[in-house]
Amino acid sequence: MILKDIWLDVKAVQERDPAARNALEVLFLYQGVHALIWHRFAHWFYKHRMFFIARLLSQMARFFTLIEIHPGAEMGHGILIDHGCGVVIGETTVVGDNCTIYQGVTLGGVGLNKGKRHPTLGNNVTVGAGAKILGAFEVGDNCRVAANAVLLKPLENDTTAVGIPARPVKIGGVPVPKEQREETVTKEQYKAMEERVQKMEEELKRLRQQLDLFSGQSET
Ligand SMILES: CC(C)(COP(=O)(O)OP(=O)(O)OC[C@H]1O[C@@H](n2cnc3c(N)ncnc32)[C@H](O)[C@@H]1OP(=O)(O)O)[C@@H](O)C(=O)NCCC(=O)NCCS
Repeated sequence: MILKDIWLDVKAVQERDPAARNALEVLFLYQGVHALIWHRFAHWFYKHRMFFIARLLSQMARFFTLIEIHPGAEMGHGILIDHGCGVVIGETTVVGDNCTIYQGVTLGGVGLNKGKRHPTLGNNVTVGAGAKILGAFEVGDNCRVAANAVLLKPLENDTTAVGIPARPVKIGGVPVPKEQREETVTKEQYKAMEERVQKMEEELKRLRQQLDLFSGQSET
């Protein structure tokens, strides 16, 4: 079973990395594949409650590949960890089949609660370089999380999300109209709004004074 998983990981790199030449090269020279091989064994020990050996293997994998996958994480078939350096995958993470994970990705938790605290990725999910997916929620099949995005909410199937915090820009390949996007207010926009409110208050005060003056004059 583990050997089959390893073969599927090698095939995934061959199919999805245009730079990959042949299976032998992928098996010997791709640290993403090495990290997954270490992980498949570490996960076996974890499932059989041999936590120390499991963690030891995962730390050794981290030393050699710079990719940290907690032995408890459930990794599907045909996963491509491209470049891989700086990838961190937490204990209760689930990664579906045929996912692509680039360098610098964190699939992490927020807070210190025990139990399920990391994301669950569906099948065919792509997580761009440097993206962070934080929390115990689901990311649907065929989703794409942009490079450097920080995703804090679930995504429905076939959604592309970008930015910090990440928000959908495409659903089923169709762009979400800009006016329907969940925009976040930047510091500059907030400052501009504050200045406008201040000006409006001053204007209101001036108009009130004029009105008082006018009503005073009309009474006399
Ligand atoms: C998210 C991604 C998959 C989108 O691809 P796409 O479907 O072709 O989307 P588009 O290029 O049409 O972009 C859609 C919108 O998202 C924005 N966008 C795309 N990538 C973004 C990013 N990383 N950060 C912020 N905004 C991004 C675009 O500017 C565009 O915005 P607009 O509609 O306001 O003009 C792609 O940009 C990405 O980040 N892929 C990861 C690749 C990667 O990590 N490679 C590492 C190789 S070593």
